[in-house]
Amino acid sequence: MIDLFEKCYKPGIADDAKARGIYPYFHALESKQDVTVIMEGKRRIMLGSNNYLGLTTNENVIRAGVEAYEAFGSGCSGSRFLNGTLKLHLELEKELAAFLRKDEVVTFSTGFQSNLGIISALVGLRDYVIMDRENHASLYDGCRLSYGTMLRYRHSDMQDLEKKLQKVPEGAGCLIVTDGVFSMGGDIANLPEICRLAKQYGARVMVDDAHGLGVIGEGGRGTASYYGLEDQVDVYMGTFSKSLASLGGYMAASSRVADYVRHNSRPFIFSASIPPANCAAALTALRELEQHPELVAKLQENALYLRRRLEENEIKMRPSNGDIVPIIPIYTYEPIETLTIAKELYDAGVYVNSSLPPAAAPHECLLRTSLMATHTHALIDEAVGIMKDVLRRHDL
Ligand SMILES: Cc1ncc(COP(=O)(O)O)c(C=O)c1O
Repeated sequence: MIDLFEKCYKPGIADDAKARGIYPYFHALESKQDVTVIMEGKRRIMLGSNNYLGLTTNENVIRAGVEAYEAFGSGCSGSRFLNGTLKLHLELEKELAAFLRKDEVVTFSTGFQSNLGIISALVGLRDYVIMDRENHASLYDGCRLSYGTMLRYRHSDMQDLEKKLQKVPEGAGCLIVTDGVFSMGGDIANLPEICRLAKQYGARVMVDDAHGLGVIGEGGRGTASYYGLEDQVDVYMGTFSKSLASLGGYMAASSRVADYVRHNSRPFIFSASIPPANCAAALTALRELEQHPELVAKLQENALYLRRRLEENEIKMRPSNGDIVPIIPIYTYEPIETLTIAKELYDAGVYVNSSLPPAAAPHECLLRTSLMATHTHALIDEAVGIMKDVLRRHDL
């Protein structure tokens, strides 16, 4: 027998980054999640948050959380299935289903868990699930947890998707799964073609709209709405941890599918429900989104503005089919260079996320910048000025 822990002692890229003083992870926030934050004692412009609408600092959202804490206590102690259903969960599910124009919503404890719970419940032993290669890790893990067969197609390559559909045997069911807005690249899935192929081959379609809700589509309704394909996407998945400023996740689908998942999804049945304060915060954030569609418009305007400012400064972005998407990846190519640049930006007062393999292709590492509706042009200009200086030093 070998020592199970042997792998823990082998030096890896994290050790290398620590030794070089460019380790990018676990920087602690010492303030609210806002457009500027205090991190490790210093002001940083936040260009790396998924708090797209800036609602984590919204007074109504915070008040709703505090009031729910006082009214319902600090936790639920059990699953939605048994003793963990609050009136608040039902309200949130009803209002979100109406907003998304689907029959029903089922909430899960996190977005990650939603993907585990939806895919493992729907994709059975003889079924197939076909995934875009750049799908989020939680979708991959959902496939691993299911008993079905997973096939992957090259990122947004519709010919490859069709080839994979042709491999599905006659008697098998099939779910095509894609991010709506890709979490790292910020590009938008080709839903018109995915839905067309699904119809042609008899497959069902699931869209992970973690980065689509509150970001694109009519009033922030997400990717299916963006394309006018709400009736052709069978299952939406989303999360409350990004635009809706809380924690938790959901599935929106037809009543029969929702009911099936509620009775067959182990990550739903055997895990405690969203705590009261988070549930109330998500519900209030949803209401803010409904009442203030201008937040979505401002977010998109900010995305266009940052893209334009980066272009003017000849900073190389990864091409995208979604100019209005507030996720803008900047090429930094090699891993060590990427971490070095991220650290220099951090020291100069800009926080961005580094995207390294396996999240990025080798030699195509990126800095993932992301915007909020509450960023001002002045703040974006300040950040671009800092980025320009740092990237020039690295001949980028
Ligand atoms: C595309 C996508 N799906 C699912 C998740 C998981 O959501 P959560 O962090 O709310 O668990 C994320 C989070 O990063 C994501 O980007």
